[in-house]
Amino acid sequence: MSSEKGKWSSGFGFIMASAGSAIGLGNIWKFPYMTARNGGGMFLLFYIIFALGIGVPVLLAELAVGRYAQKNAVDSCREINPKWGFAGYFGVICSVLVLSFYSVVGGWVIKYLSVSAFSGIPSPLFFGEYSVKAYEPILFQALFILICALIVIKGVSGGIEKCSEIMLPLLIVFLIGIMFFVFGEENAAEGIKYFLLPRVSEEMPLSEIILAAMGQMFFSLSLGMGTLITYGSYLSKENDLIKSTFTIVILDTVIALIAGLVIIPSAYAFGGEISAGAGMIFETLPAVFAKIRGGRIIMTVMFLLILLAAVTSAISLLEVFSSFLADRVHLKRKPAVLLSAGLCLAVGIAASLSFGVLSDVKIFNMSIFDFVIYLADNVIMPVGAVSICILAGRKWGKENLKREISLGRKKPLRSGNLIHFILNYASPAIIITAAVINF
Ligand code: PHE
Repeated sequence: MSSEKGKWSSGFGFIMASAGSAIGLGNIWKFPYMTARNGGGMFLLFYIIFALGIGVPVLLAELAVGRYAQKNAVDSCREINPKWGFAGYFGVICSVLVLSFYSVVGGWVIKYLSVSAFSGIPSPLFFGEYSVKAYEPILFQALFILICALIVIKGVSGGIEKCSEIMLPLLIVFLIGIMFFVFGEENAAEGIKYFLLPRVSEEMPLSEIILAAMGQMFFSLSLGMGTLITYGSYLSKENDLIKSTFTIVILDTVIALIAGLVIIPSAYAFGGEISAGAGMIFETLPAVFAKIRGGRIIMTVMFLLILLAAVTSAISLLEVFSSFLADRVHLKRKPAVLLSAGLCLAVGIAASLSFGVLSDVKIFNMSIFDFVIYLADNVIMPVGAVSICILAGRKWGKENLKREISLGRKKPLRSGNLIHFILNYASPAIIITAAVINF
């Protein structure tokens, strides 16, 4: 395999795959608890401003760089500027790191799916007992990575695109269905208010909310990690990049909002605790479902959806490293994917064990798992995004950037100067300021 040979078979397939990469555990597992923890509507407001103001131009730049070069993340960056391969390396290495903790949660989701399907709704205490175990979580984590590897092995259009085309529409339809179900419950309005109304308190200063919203936006849109450079490299010149970018950002944001509107109000409606943490969907939701008639079926469907969302994101992470290995080490697709998957599992085992055996190991006062998430949201992705801004805005040159974005558009490009300005000045300035204020 060479990543150059892969191609999306349709524009729709590409959108489903890219939106599938964006829509994942970040939307369903992380977004609700991050919003609850960081001031509700205040967080939402900044999230949306960042998604439109920074997310759109950075995503567009990644797609443009990938489509222009038609190569893996490292070689695409080098094609723009030979000295900038490091921006791609950064993404490639970090994709392994992100998949390492992502697969831990993916493994929990499979466990919860199988327990609710075959034995019954687990008690809220189950999560605490299960996540500290040494072997079983690693086994499910490995199963999660294996499922992703089997899809990626099938190739760009035959594996990633086909599976996203089925999984993403399913996820959207079911999630909307569950949202209406939750809205019908008695106390749901209180939960909706808790989710949407802005709150600022002394424990949660605005500067922290802003940084959290920005980190979440990067994570949710899969930015700064070479994912969209890689996916862009399989695109044809006929694709309208601006239209695609907006579609991906809007889909991702709407799904995050719907997930928040499902999870927070359901916790409220059924008296579950808004535990506001990583365990939220694993501790609060089962308590909620246990109280509803038919709750076990809904819980099974819900965890199946979460699994679908997680898989379509994890395959994009796996593709970044695999396409790099295939091109650079001249491996065929299958060994490249298996090698990448093995590496992710090896790193991921430490993240899994940090709940039990390695719980005493602290890095900057955080467990290995929390540290990797913190690193991804607040360091890796912002640094990756600033690198892409500088690469596409400054090193590539305004005219080259505009030319690539214009290809495939029916109407002439009118926002080229604005896009260039945001990439070149505004985005890096805002990202760096937000990071420095919180330092
Ligand atoms: N965007 C994905 C999510 O929301 C996570 C992800 C991050 C995927 C970076 C690829 C690259 O779950």
